[in-house]
Amino acid sequence: MSDRVSIYEVGPRDGLQNEKSIIPTEKKIELIDLLSRSGFKKIEATSFVSPKWVPQLADAADVMAGIARAEGVDYAVLTPNLKGFEAAVAAGADEVAIFGSASEGFSQKNINCSIAESLARFEPVMAAAAAARIPVRGYVSCVVACPYDGDVAPRAVQKVASTLFGMGCYEVALGDTTGAGTPDSIRRMIEAVQAAVPTSRLAGHFHDTGNTAISNVKAALTLGLRTFDSAVGGLGGCPYAPGAKGNVSTSALVAMLAAEGFETGIDMQALAKAEACIGALSLGHGA
Ligand code: HMG
Ligand code: MG
Repeated sequence: MSDRVSIYEVGPRDGLQNEKSIIPTEKKIELIDLLSRSGFKKIEATSFVSPKWVPQLADAADVMAGIARAEGVDYAVLTPNLKGFEAAVAAGADEVAIFGSASEGFSQKNINCSIAESLARFEPVMAAAAAARIPVRGYVSCVVACPYDGDVAPRAVQKVASTLFGMGCYEVALGDTTGAGTPDSIRRMIEAVQAAVPTSRLAGHFHDTGNTAISNVKAALTLGLRTFDSAVGGLGGCPYAPGAKGNVSTSALVAMLAAEGFETGIDMQALAKAEACIGALSLGHGA
């Protein structure tokens, strides 16, 4: 098993989307530019979603236009539908992500449709992405619990994950949106998904609401996962998952992985500058 772990930095998107006060576009650009110098190969920069649903990211096109693109870094964005995909391509996104849910309640609240409707809505995005040769990542939210429906069965996660993979997503990120996961529940969920999707195509996306994200990453590592999402400064939450805290902090993740003997290629000194930039924003971390 490889001793290299890829870190997918989601701070500028997942980290900032929940902030109530609008962060100036130039500050977002500054943050992404600092992250670009920290060794990440993938940075999720923003979302091309409805500005009515996520006002914080209404400046997505300006952010994409303003960043200094570093060689070897892919700048990824969320695209819930074809409209978002087309805007993302026009803005020069290297990669897009579609995002579904393993629970009906969150699907309705987050993207205003059922799971089945969301999967149908993703089809034209997949077709357009294939034609444009843009890689698509798939997210499954609520892989352990849903803020509206309660516990989520591993079988439900397997179903959505295998559908997204079958549609052509090169990777499926398993989102513990509420951070309710524990090493045991994460293990049971991943084992179910592994029956349908190759392990090398799975990523862990763990929020740290219950302070279990690092232990959950360790559980996922033992099952062979080698890609994890994290947010600089542990920022984040989801506007449609009340109370959910940030993603696992990137520096905590890198430190744990180094201690366990994994290489990440992240430059901790450069990352510290990005963390300082976040600190200077004095964010309120949303509601
Ligand atoms: P809807 O209201 O059902 O959509 O929203 P609609 O098609 O009826 O459109 C409504 C309005 O939005 C229209 O404008 C559209 O043009 C516009 P109006 O005519 O009223 O002026 N619109 C758009 N504008 C810009 N870009 C677009 C777009 N699409 C429609 N792409 C929709 C459905 C999916 C659009 C909406 O629910 C939405 O944008 N939801 C996004 C919510 C979101 O971003 N949530 C956070 C990200 S998910 C997450 O954080 C979880 C994750 O981190 C993993 C985990 O932790 O589990 C990924
Ligand atoms: Mg998330």
